[in-house]
Amino acid sequence: MILIKKKVSLRLETRLLNALMKIYETDNISETVTKAIVEIVTEGKSKKKLKTLFPYVGKKPPRIAREVVEAFHQSGSKVFVDLFCGSLAILCYLPEDTRVVVNDINGDLTNLYVIIKTKSDEFIAELEALPYSEVLFQKYKEVLRSDDKASDLEQAVAYYYVQFASFRGRSKNASFRISADAENNMASTFRKNLPSIVALSDRLQTVEILNRDFRKVLNQFNDTSVFVYADCPYLGTEDYYECEVNGEEYVFGDNEHRDLAQMLKEHKGIFVLSSKVKKDLRKLYRSNGHYVLNFEATGRMPDKRHREQLIMNFKMEHVNKYGEDDIKPYR
Ligand SMILES: C[S@@+](CC[C@H](N)C(=O)[O-])C[C@H]1O[C@@H](n2cnc3c(N)ncnc32)[C@H](O)[C@@H]1O
Repeated sequence: MILIKKKVSLRLETRLLNALMKIYETDNISETVTKAIVEIVTEGKSKKKLKTLFPYVGKKPPRIAREVVEAFHQSGSKVFVDLFCGSLAILCYLPEDTRVVVNDINGDLTNLYVIIKTKSDEFIAELEALPYSEVLFQKYKEVLRSDDKASDLEQAVAYYYVQFASFRGRSKNASFRISADAENNMASTFRKNLPSIVALSDRLQTVEILNRDFRKVLNQFNDTSVFVYADCPYLGTEDYYECEVNGEEYVFGDNEHRDLAQMLKEHKGIFVLSSKVKKDLRKLYRSNGHYVLNFEATGRMPDKRHREQLIMNFKMEHVNKYGEDDIKPYR
């Protein structure tokens, strides 16, 4: 390999340069600056914090994700199954050595994760060549709607592009995401997002990615060592997640809500279900062995009906800042 080097000149504050020389234990300026740059480029890449790649309806915020991860730790389970993984928000909070299985019925979503896991270089190269444009956004929406199957890589590029550029993460009938805010240049945000794909690809190397109906996954993983996190479409929001399954339009419906409740009750390990506070949900999940953790209202969601909760089949110890008595029986 031929190394092409370029001579650069730059001005650095003396105190900064002295500090760097101490860190790298050399008084050679060129060596000091080179070492600092190499460290950022090589190690900085893998140390980059894992984050989700795009907005997604129902994406779990940090305050909920942290409680789910805490419940997993307290349960002593060995395997974490994210039954309805969506944007992979929870994976971003789980320690790297956790055995994780992610599942979603949306094949465009799971194909994207498989491509990021197995072909991240090609995928990023394709994206790097693309401008941030509404024309392209419309074109990729057509690719996703078309009956002619694109290659898995093209399909992943189209899905990523549409999902990233959709206003509020709604892919169906979505409008193009732009911002009038001087600080928020979407074209540069699109570029800045690319290193996060590298970090996600690294993490996915040890993650199992499934594209199944949740019932099949629950049947297969019904074991005491398995922790199931179930973040199914919330009652009343099912349409947001309409997708194609075996050539047919699919929407999570009442049967699915009933089957999920029944199968979670029969699960031999621990489960945690995310939901909003709803009467109809209590009918499905009330039980002597079930507990609920209610989150406080937020500025954005002050109405009680929009409050989030976690329903679980064990009594988690209090860990959060909302008071000692926030985990109650769910009867
Ligand atoms: C509320 S979202 C999950 C959000 C995710 N926890 C996050 O933080 O991004 C619900 C997900 O369930 C998926 N889904 C709907 N029906 C399903 C089914 N029968 N089996 C598996 N996944 C399903 C949808 O595609 C959607 O991604």
